[in-house]
Amino acid sequence: MSSDVTPKIDPTPDSEKQDLKDRINKAVTTQKRPTVTVLSSLLSIEDEMGYIPAEAISIVAEYNNSTINEVWGVASFYPNFRFEPPSENTVEVCWGPSCHLVGATDVIKSVLDELELDGEGDTPDKMATFKFNTCLGACPQAPVMSINHRMYGKVSAKQAKTYISALREDVKGAHK
Ligand code: FES
Repeated sequence: MSSDVTPKIDPTPDSEKQDLKDRINKAVTTQKRPTVTVLSSLLSIEDEMGYIPAEAISIVAEYNNSTINEVWGVASFYPNFRFEPPSENTVEVCWGPSCHLVGATDVIKSVLDELELDGEGDTPDKMATFKFNTCLGACPQAPVMSINHRMYGKVSAKQAKTYISALREDVKGAHK
């Protein structure tokens, strides 16, 4: 019986790894929150990078005088943390009460259809990450959606579909 003993080589160049660690360290050490905890450190990293890289776990543990197990326990407890880089674009639709009352369900359906998704997550081509939001902070403009943090208010299902197909065209154009 033969077994594969080929060492797995991480193809990421050292400079990129260092750059990643520098960004994590910066996010952890420049937190604005009054009380620094494992959770606040993870939130800072998520804000800065859009996800929690594997390298962050040991850095957060060291900074907070904690253990890798404890940090991982906190990170995995909260469903809002993601552990892979986000897609190229972020699309959010609010399904908070104000938006729900005036048609968010139709907007959500339209966006999901256009992205070919069943719910939150990444499109297979990594063109977009779709997220629900419980309030985008613009209730008088309900229903509200955002694309890369740019808000669109009083949006109809038809407009939502148009925004997503325009985004797809922009991405295609940028990749030519
Ligand atoms: S409930 Fe949708 S923006 Fe506030």
